[in-house]
Amino acid sequence: DVRERAGLLLAAMTLEEKVGQLHQIPNADPVRDAEALAAGAIGTTLVASGEHAGNVRDAGTRARAVTGLQRAAVTTSRLGIPLIVARDVIHGHRTVFPIPLGQAASFDAGLVRDAARAAAVEASADGVRWTFAPMVDVTIDPRWGRVAEGYGESAWLTAHLGAAAVRGFQGDDLGRPDALVACAKHYVGYGLAQGGRDYAEVDVGPVTLHNRHLRPFAAAVDAGVGTVMTAFHTLDGTPMTAHRPLVREHLKGTLGFDGVVVSDWDAVGELLRHGVAADLGSATRLALGAGVDVDMVTGGYARHLAELVRSGHVPEALVDDAARRVLELKLRLGLFSSWEVDDARAATVQLAPPHRELARRAAASSLVLLENSGVLPLAAPRRVHVTGAFAQAREELFGTWTLDGRGEDVTTVEEALRERYPDAEITADDGRFPDRTLVAAREADVVVACVGEHPSRSGEANSVTSLDLPPGQTELLVALAGLGTPVVVVAVTGRPLALGRVASLADALLIAFHPGVEGGRGIVDVLSGDVPASGRLPMTLPRSVGQVPIHVGQLPTGRPIPAASDVVVGRYRDSSDLPAYPFGFGLGYADVAYGELDVVPLDGAADGAVLEAGVTVRNVGSRDAVETVQLYVRDHVAAVSRPLTELAGVVRVPLAAGAAERVTFRLDRGSLGYRDSSGALVVEPGEFTVRIGPHAGAGPSSTLSLEL
Ligand code: IFM
Repeated sequence: DVRERAGLLLAAMTLEEKVGQLHQIPNADPVRDAEALAAGAIGTTLVASGEHAGNVRDAGTRARAVTGLQRAAVTTSRLGIPLIVARDVIHGHRTVFPIPLGQAASFDAGLVRDAARAAAVEASADGVRWTFAPMVDVTIDPRWGRVAEGYGESAWLTAHLGAAAVRGFQGDDLGRPDALVACAKHYVGYGLAQGGRDYAEVDVGPVTLHNRHLRPFAAAVDAGVGTVMTAFHTLDGTPMTAHRPLVREHLKGTLGFDGVVVSDWDAVGELLRHGVAADLGSATRLALGAGVDVDMVTGGYARHLAELVRSGHVPEALVDDAARRVLELKLRLGLFSSWEVDDARAATVQLAPPHRELARRAAASSLVLLENSGVLPLAAPRRVHVTGAFAQAREELFGTWTLDGRGEDVTTVEEALRERYPDAEITADDGRFPDRTLVAAREADVVVACVGEHPSRSGEANSVTSLDLPPGQTELLVALAGLGTPVVVVAVTGRPLALGRVASLADALLIAFHPGVEGGRGIVDVLSGDVPASGRLPMTLPRSVGQVPIHVGQLPTGRPIPAASDVVVGRYRDSSDLPAYPFGFGLGYADVAYGELDVVPLDGAADGAVLEAGVTVRNVGSRDAVETVQLYVRDHVAAVSRPLTELAGVVRVPLAAGAAERVTFRLDRGSLGYRDSSGALVVEPGEFTVRIGPHAGAGPSSTLSLEL
């Protein structure tokens, strides 16, 4: 039906009207853009500014503004086609959830899905129906600021959580007014930006591209993602916005993606700066030819496409196919029948108590406990001094890409401590005057030092060359460590930091990827032990920036460490080769013991599984725990070298003190195979090692031969 209706519309459209569907402008305005709207020359708009649509303090204002814009498009244009309103709803809307890297630290797909659902409900109440999320770029370089926006370094975890986010944003039915169409971005390999410099060139071979970087995009397509955004970078010399083999042929062809491909902001225009197009007309031809349906912001399509078709430089069929995709999306979103936005909904859904509760749970689940001498959980403290740049922070807890959160909604760490410990004496400062801090800290039972990096140090175009705390903060910790008062460090950050020195100064160390609007309460929930510490590292923490990239998916070398004899191995002369903390690492408040591992090959199982691996985990501590049980696999011999270990499954298990639980994983043939350089799935029989453990470097393992 959608196909048929789009076909009928397309048949009635002029070339200019079709091109209009492919033109996305920022902040369309019903008055300023009246003429273009009436001509059907604007197909979609993105609401780019934080303060869009006038007085955003009143819930409903934005909804009314979008309704006005839609009315102009629908009632003044010849064919009455509504717009799609897009916005970067990255980790929440008014209710700000932890940054995606923090959500990934929960290793909890259900939570990621629910957070995306809540964000969709809130943003759609403002008339937004398209989000540019999730970012499913696999990220192995913490210098790159955009690691904050992704799900970390594991292709499996990124695929798993990315698909969950797609399902959450889009809901069960894209036609419901509270659904957002998701956008898997940035296609593809953007996480490999050289030197961690945003937008820099990428050079990656096809096997790595298929097995690591394309995998989450394939998973997003399988989850039904409606749109995909091409990345800014060049891949082996070809900008992704002009990359016909990967966009038109692989994504739309091999992967069968039938949705809309959008460029990144002005990326069509940037083809000139990349030096692959001499003028905007050529850039337009390259981008559309590559398979980019919608031109975000440049206006190259609007200016040149009709003429390029008329002069025979671009086949009209390409324009038709792109316009069909946009029209089908609008139909699937139900925009033709209900473009009016219910202006009463924003007030009831935005920052609604269940969303805040979810944000609090997400914040607590995203915290990773790296060290604990026993000072945590805090035992009924009488005097607490909380200090550091994040002790009294509000919007600084949000993290990058927060367009709609408001500082006034935030409970600070200081306020949350007061709420939790009403009888304790809580003193606080921001750590900028260390002498004063030391006086208060000396008097306290415990110091909570909330240090870290401001959100403006991570996110787009915010790369760094040092993974140390910003200047002055380590010095503060050194001074605090000399006092004799136990020091709990909370490191608030948008990326993995090199925290070795900090760990040596702290009695407990918690890493908090920018935790969102309920970050203060979530942090205190974990410090107090009201909620078990359960987060795990979605990226390896290096010892120093010099170790980067260091990640879980690395391939074996021919001279592995430790050396069998006195063979020369490739190792650092000035550092350990091991990371500071491995992928998947995180402490709880109770020790969890892993029993013996059983791995059973299966033959003819109804669900297609070829292997079942199981282990019993037992909480041997005296407090409740949530254990993130992780499955790792290694394929020892294949036609291409396979990673030393790869995450292949996760189960989060609540374990009351003393309780035990059997955890099993089932793997099918496909998950034991790999992609060759053409992208084809190859499954080879032979020796595999299966390990189930608490992180990438631990747990019982078994090596067996599989027929497959
Ligand atoms: O969605 C973003 C993208 O991630 C980076 N450039 C701008 C886009 C739209 O705001």
